[in-house]
Amino acid sequence: MGAQKLLLLLLALVLPLRPGDSQHEQTFSGGPSFPTSLDITESSAVRKLSPGTTNERRRSTLGSASTVRNVKDFGARGDGSSDDTKAFAAAWKAACSSSAPVTVLVPEGKAYRLKPITFSGPCKSPITVAIKGTILASGRMSDWDGADRRLWMLFDKVDGLRVEGGGTIDGNGQVWWKVSCKVDSAQPCKGAPTALTFQSCRGLTVTDLKFKNSQQMHVTFSKCANVRISRLTISAPGNSPNTDGIHVSGSTDVKISDSVIRTGDDCISIVSGSRSITATNIVCGPGHGISIGSLGANGAEHTVSDVLVDTARLEGTTNGVRIKTWQGGKGYARNIIFRNIVMDNVKNPIIIDQNYCDSPKSCGEQKSAVAVSGVTFQNVRGTSATAVAMDFDCSRTVPCRGITLKDVHLVTASGAPAKTFCRNVNLSKYGTVVPSTCSS
Ligand SMILES: *[C@@H]1O[C@H](CO)[C@@H](O)[C@H](O)[C@H]1NC(C)=O
Repeated sequence: MGAQKLLLLLLALVLPLRPGDSQHEQTFSGGPSFPTSLDITESSAVRKLSPGTTNERRRSTLGSASTVRNVKDFGARGDGSSDDTKAFAAAWKAACSSSAPVTVLVPEGKAYRLKPITFSGPCKSPITVAIKGTILASGRMSDWDGADRRLWMLFDKVDGLRVEGGGTIDGNGQVWWKVSCKVDSAQPCKGAPTALTFQSCRGLTVTDLKFKNSQQMHVTFSKCANVRISRLTISAPGNSPNTDGIHVSGSTDVKISDSVIRTGDDCISIVSGSRSITATNIVCGPGHGISIGSLGANGAEHTVSDVLVDTARLEGTTNGVRIKTWQGGKGYARNIIFRNIVMDNVKNPIIIDQNYCDSPKSCGEQKSAVAVSGVTFQNVRGTSATAVAMDFDCSRTVPCRGITLKDVHLVTASGAPAKTFCRNVNLSKYGTVVPSTCSS
């Protein structure tokens, strides 16, 4: 081993492996001084992205000091048509068993076609996956025969993982959308793969990536803790079925920031078992907006708490910020803040729906419900595409508690005054709240 290489190796050992994963935490000046018309456009969202902190640079240095495993060296062709699944699996196996930090490199300027694939942990050392080129999903549904049809790429039980690189993950979802029961009612409702799933992980960073045309959801975090997600650009047609942008389930301490999400379903969805979730500087639309839930389907006990959505712009979405729960469920959604939000022609800008029903049969009133409490909407401004700008449809048996509106100003897109619908809720209002009177 050369002296220089030895030095680099020593350096890599001396430097902390994952320094300050909380470094992405950003504070946004909220409160009354926040500008009326937020300037979060696609370009400004991207421009705002910080050029990299000291830790970031240190980490890149570490990256170049760590061993690089190029998928090309494991036989990946990257010609967009050859099947590169085996090569990726071999590169992962080598990386995961390495006793020093490793970077798995997916080179720029190439498109690597993959069938369903699982990258399993635990691994011996921290791994960085640098996706610089494109990863393209196989467009043959038969490649999922015998595999879990809900998954395309899965990282399972990998701790201290970092996925980055500026490249693209293309779900090639058109063939799946065509057979979705939401598009063609003659088809059975069978579900389709999430492009990228992280399951049972700790200390994960996902940054600087593009996702497009996922088969179903774009990126899912399930049973993960301490996750930093930033600088993602996610796009799929507004009419593509169930193509949520970022889906968080059963996870804690998740921070999502500086991302632009334009798809056919929820921009960000946060579901059961999730706690301490923040989303900052997010642009959504088209799509269904930022959603907590649905919770409590089929009588389930579901809990979500401590969610902060701060600084978001919703453009032409069906909902703005939403909490949705089914009748008959148990559990709670509580301690939730939506602040510094701009609505641009959104159908239901603010909505709490405890009578959510996404079933062909009507759901009917039931005795139990997921309790919704401690929800604040602060500095929410802009336009509603419909007359009802705020919709609080709470359960009779378990009414919404502690719902606060502070400095809310919503008008209809045509300029006419908007309305607030209220059922089984008492609202606390501070500052200027427009529209102010509840109708039921
Ligand atoms: C609203 O406040 C009134 C008066 O305090 C109370 O009687 C009623 O039960 C409250 N309703 C809800 C849904 O909390």
